[in-house]
Amino acid sequence: MTLLEVLQSTTAYFTKRKVESARLNAEHLLAHALGRKRIDLYLEFERELAEGELAPLRKLVRRRGQGEPLQHLLGTVEFCGRTFISDNRALIPRPETEELVELIIQSTIDQKPSTILDVGTGSGVIALSLAAKLPDAEVHAVDISDEALALARENAARLGLAERVEFGRSDLLAQVDGAFDCIVANLPYVAATDRATLSREVLHDPATAVFGGERGDEMIRALIVTAAPHLTRGGLLALEIGLGQANALSALLTEAKYRDISQRQDFAGVTRFLLARYG
Ligand SMILES: C[S@@+](CC[C@H](N)C(=O)[O-])C[C@H]1O[C@@H](n2cnc3c(N)ncnc32)[C@H](O)[C@@H]1O
Repeated sequence: MTLLEVLQSTTAYFTKRKVESARLNAEHLLAHALGRKRIDLYLEFERELAEGELAPLRKLVRRRGQGEPLQHLLGTVEFCGRTFISDNRALIPRPETEELVELIIQSTIDQKPSTILDVGTGSGVIALSLAAKLPDAEVHAVDISDEALALARENAARLGLAERVEFGRSDLLAQVDGAFDCIVANLPYVAATDRATLSREVLHDPATAVFGGERGDEMIRALIVTAAPHLTRGGLLALEIGLGQANALSALLTEAKYRDISQRQDFAGVTRFLLARYG
């Protein structure tokens, strides 16, 4: 078969298996299996593929058709212009979280934060992207999962940022000392009762990274209440939140005496972020 025929038949198979963005997924996996850039496939459409090239592709295609996430099969994900390792030790970074990183950078432009803490760092994408973009900042990151922390440290080393971010294990802020100019968190926010509505792909993320409790926002609530004493005067709390959680969490921020509370939307128009200052 030619490369184009393989691409077309893989796309048709993915469509049948209800894989979203079937053609794009097929292109990514074919490029990965052939060791090419996706864009370069277009130059080789008429080339006959050898059996040796097809065998590794077939395995990947089968796994993707069974719902394994593309990022796990590729082994990497792009985030804020950098390539991070992505596997089942931590949540696959989502594109909207890049917007959270940008919001922090914009919010701190006048008052460059010198100390930042990322709570629930997962693969380390937020902490490492901020460390790369804010070279003067002192960045700390915690997670309750040792596996996630191992992945985050691998990402730090791979990106040459190991000296820039201090990773540690903590249940929210229980094992954290001191105060920070910015605390950022993309904590689990899916309600346990919503499990049945999740895609096959999301179910490959670790459960500790996805589910925030019966209602979904319990962990974020706990952070809002405990973060205040860990913020310097006027320090910024920046949160990624779930669909429909903004108003109740804004009310809690007000109750907990935060100020300058603002709700921000992601590119899809979902109110996805809360920013607030304390003191
Ligand atoms: C939604 S994932 C976000 C990962 C990463 N920050 C990102 O944006 O891609 C949430 C992370 O919070 C961590 N987590 C869950 N419960 C926690 C807790 N009680 N204390 C600290 N981290 C926790 C999970 O292990 C997971 O890595």
